[in-house]
Amino acid sequence: MNRSAFLLLLAALAACTTSPPASSSRPTGTAAATLAAPVPAATPVVAEHALVVSAHPEATRIGVEMLQRGGNAYDAAVAVQFALAVALPAAGNLGGGGFLLYRGADGQEGALDFRETAPAAASRDMYLDKAGNVIPDLSTLGHRAAGVPGTVAGMWELHQKRGQLPWRDVVEPAVQLAMQGLKLTEKEAAGLNRTRADFARFTPASAYLKASSWQAGETIYHPDLARTLAYIRDQGRNGFYTGPVARLIVAEMQRGQGLITAADLAGYRPQWRTPLHGRYRGYEVLTFPPPSSGGVALLQLLQMLEPYNLRAAGWHSPQATHWLTEAQRRVYADRATYLGDPDFGRVPVAQLLEPAYNQRRMASTLPYRATPSAQVAAGPGLPAYESDQTTHYNIVDARGNAVSCTTTLNGAYGSKVVVAGAGFLLNNEMDDFSSKPGTPNAYGLVGGTANAIAPGKRMLSSMTPAILTRDKKLALVVGTPGGSTIITSVLQAILNVVDYGQNAQQAVSAPRLHHQWLPDQLDVEAGALLPAAQDTLRARGYQLNSRNAWGRVEVIQVLPNGQLEGGADPRGDDTAAGY
Ligand code: GLY
Repeated sequence: MNRSAFLLLLAALAACTTSPPASSSRPTGTAAATLAAPVPAATPVVAEHALVVSAHPEATRIGVEMLQRGGNAYDAAVAVQFALAVALPAAGNLGGGGFLLYRGADGQEGALDFRETAPAAASRDMYLDKAGNVIPDLSTLGHRAAGVPGTVAGMWELHQKRGQLPWRDVVEPAVQLAMQGLKLTEKEAAGLNRTRADFARFTPASAYLKASSWQAGETIYHPDLARTLAYIRDQGRNGFYTGPVARLIVAEMQRGQGLITAADLAGYRPQWRTPLHGRYRGYEVLTFPPPSSGGVALLQLLQMLEPYNLRAAGWHSPQATHWLTEAQRRVYADRATYLGDPDFGRVPVAQLLEPAYNQRRMASTLPYRATPSAQVAAGPGLPAYESDQTTHYNIVDARGNAVSCTTTLNGAYGSKVVVAGAGFLLNNEMDDFSSKPGTPNAYGLVGGTANAIAPGKRMLSSMTPAILTRDKKLALVVGTPGGSTIITSVLQAILNVVDYGQNAQQAVSAPRLHHQWLPDQLDVEAGALLPAAQDTLRARGYQLNSRNAWGRVEVIQVLPNGQLEGGADPRGDDTAAGY
């Protein structure tokens, strides 16, 4: 089937979907479709055999080299992860964590959780003062903000289970990158300059700080980081969690009254989780379970939206935006109440993914009016529980193995603490816990007891790596950074391809919308809504908030002829390449 036939098929499928309730599908004065926003043209990268999409050209290059040397998608993932730790200090990491989802060419699948954990000395109220108020910045800046890093253990675990090339070979390119140095992109130079005061406060002697401002094109060298990566190359996970690197981490903690101990490091274990499955318009959706909230939320959103004919309503038309927003509002209310680390309490995943439950949630949607968030709580009756700088990469190898991995330090440059002598940044992931029920975190997200701090617990995440298949064949690989906006950005990338027939590059370039229940506002990226559509939405009771670009979505789509089509987000330095 050629591409136009495929798009026609998608259109037919969309038209066949169940209509929404009659009252909510009526046109609203101005014909809804005339208020649909135009989707700019964008050309994807197309590869015959294998494709890597990541947030940095050097990481993408290294991933492709691994594949060309006979490595599989898992080898390439490890190489890309370590390359990002050098090339993308804002988010790529050794001192953070993440979630990696895979689907093998053999149909096997896995969800590897290498999320950070709270140190053993952490406690529920550790970020509160004596009066019970949140102490500003304590969970976001400096040593106390760091959770026990999971990345190196995660990569080691993945490679042990699925890798093919020798471990040393997949780590070596990052060692070289750190030693030889690399040219800063404009965005990375600006990011380092913006963070200068924090680096000076927490890490006066690190590669990221120098006397003058950084310039685009200037080379940055990482001798300490190269040494750390060489330990990891030579000793695997032990090269990080025990021995000299671990001692440097503990010394850094002692310098800044941080909580991570040698025992925390030695005891860190990644977890294999069972991936979540859902369906949307004939596609099977594979995504990540708790402690990500992202997979549950994505599948809830898709269930809520499937009855509505989004395509007929028009891309980002008032009507489509209304359905999208009302679904998001309800799902984020559930997230705040029910989601947390499943190892520490029961998360009602099955109930949240019950189709009847999600239909009931949407039944309270008013036809032409926003439902104020104050009137939306989490769905009743379920058992009680019991940065925006993250980065994402997708890889599909020549055999058809697919990896979708989101990895994070949480905020840009994490806690801003570089481990002295080891050259890598520590996360500030502790802020993803709910420091105090009802008090928003750095992303404005509120949480409850389900996401309270406890020793060894994983903080709730929004990271949403996703892989879609159709008729048991790989169809789409998606993911993005963006803190609380991750879920809605992944959702929109999927809708852009499945409902609106956009190519992979359009699907990631297209401007986005976001609503997260609280604050009760619809975030609008420039160009996402026509002015007339904005007027219509305001008249329907929506509070619109213009917001600078967010997310760095990466997409790989498998075309009907088997070619791979990649979309890399133009909001960053993201790059797709393959062969
Ligand atoms: N730190 C962002 C997330 O995990 O959702």
